[in-house]
Amino acid sequence: MGKCTYFISIIVSLLGIVEAVTYNVIHFGAKPDGKTDATLAFLAAWTSACSSSSGWGSTIYVPMGVYMIKAAEFRGPCNDRIDVRIDGTLVAAPPIEASGNSGYWILFIKVDRLSVIGGTLDAKGASFWECRNSGQNCPTGARITFNWANDVLIDGLTSINSQQMHLVINSCNNVMVHNVKIIAPELSPNTDGIHVQSSTGVIITESEIQTGDDCISIGPGTTNLLMDNIQCGPGHGVSIGSLGRNFNEVGVQNVTLRNSIFSGSENGLRIKTWARPSNGFVRNIQYQNIVMNNVENPIIIDQNYCPNNLSCPAQSSGIKIEEVRYENIKGTSATQVGMIFDCSPSNPCSGITLQDVQLTYMNTTKALSFCNNIGASTKSSSKRGVHNWFIGARR
Ligand SMILES: *[C@@H]1O[C@H](CO)[C@@H](O)[C@H](O)[C@H]1NC(C)=O
Ligand SMILES: *[C@@H]1O[C@H](CO)[C@@H](O)[C@H](O)[C@H]1NC(C)=O
Ligand SMILES: *[C@@H]1O[C@H](CO)[C@@H](O)[C@H](O)[C@H]1NC(C)=O
Repeated sequence: MGKCTYFISIIVSLLGIVEAVTYNVIHFGAKPDGKTDATLAFLAAWTSACSSSSGWGSTIYVPMGVYMIKAAEFRGPCNDRIDVRIDGTLVAAPPIEASGNSGYWILFIKVDRLSVIGGTLDAKGASFWECRNSGQNCPTGARITFNWANDVLIDGLTSINSQQMHLVINSCNNVMVHNVKIIAPELSPNTDGIHVQSSTGVIITESEIQTGDDCISIGPGTTNLLMDNIQCGPGHGVSIGSLGRNFNEVGVQNVTLRNSIFSGSENGLRIKTWARPSNGFVRNIQYQNIVMNNVENPIIIDQNYCPNNLSCPAQSSGIKIEEVRYENIKGTSATQVGMIFDCSPSNPCSGITLQDVQLTYMNTTKALSFCNNIGASTKSSSKRGVHNWFIGARR
């Protein structure tokens, strides 16, 4: 230790600041027994941490053990940066009744400079899915949500069996999601892994997602999103959309997915829009270095999106899709048609580029492609059998 840091640490100790920055939920009355409601203890720890103004940041610490938590809102703004360090497991309790119609299980709202490190969050969604599947009137379903939060780090978190979407990033700027694991059964309804919406500067890396809906879904108003090193499947793929349900909608722009693997998923790289008038758009999308293992629709743009084919709008999608680049996409399609471009008749896709796309069906035959409303297309093959395609409206 240098002389200078030594003196600083003495001064800090004298002021008692070092001791003051950690808020252990146990000291606020939480019991790590998995059956005592710990919600109020967590909220009290938050209130203390959030109002602390030591200038050194506040840490909320959750030791090993299982904590039962009801729907809880962790609200800012806080005086200082907050780190939530979780060594334990949080379980939702009891699933449906606890969350009511609030739409969230754990909500961080209007908090800047927040990190959530480690932890397992088990929402125990099974009885909620049962309710959904039986067609009854069910509550909204609870998510883990970050709303209006800036400069956020989510690292090493495991989320299992969410009632609804696992992790929602809404109206946030500058969010890093690293090394998260999301797990729900293949047949659990609407359990998307990570949903990003109305947010800019979100980075999702080194994460593994197995779920019953989209691994990552990207809603209106998402810009500058980077996804790197993602493992998806089972699940419905990485999906931009669904978009264009409403007429007035903010576009999706500058999204990159690279170095990722899809295994046994329903879709790989998907863009989906409703066949309705809209002023939204999808622009400047890059897919790079992707491996497909037995994926039903490895590449799909679906501008007639209508799940279950029920009361479909049957109009023409107003969403203009342009500048989408697919580069080095390899592997196997579980269906004969590996690429579907079903674009809007009123707003044909333009600037779709495919380079080194090699998809096979049944490991042997080249997968087919289906194209609708993408204007002129050209395709060329190099000597090594690598296909370079450019498909786009004439300009
Ligand atoms: C696009 O997004 C990336 C992050 O993925 C960012 O680094 C880059 O600056 C953005 N480009 C533009 C033109 O905004
Ligand atoms: C969807 O429904 C329409 C009309 O009910 C029908 O004509 C069409 O074949 C259906 N499509 C699929 C894929 O089931
Ligand atoms: C395709 O290859 C994979 C991996 O080598 C293998 O597990 C699978 O059985 C093959 N499928 C067919 C239809 O040959």
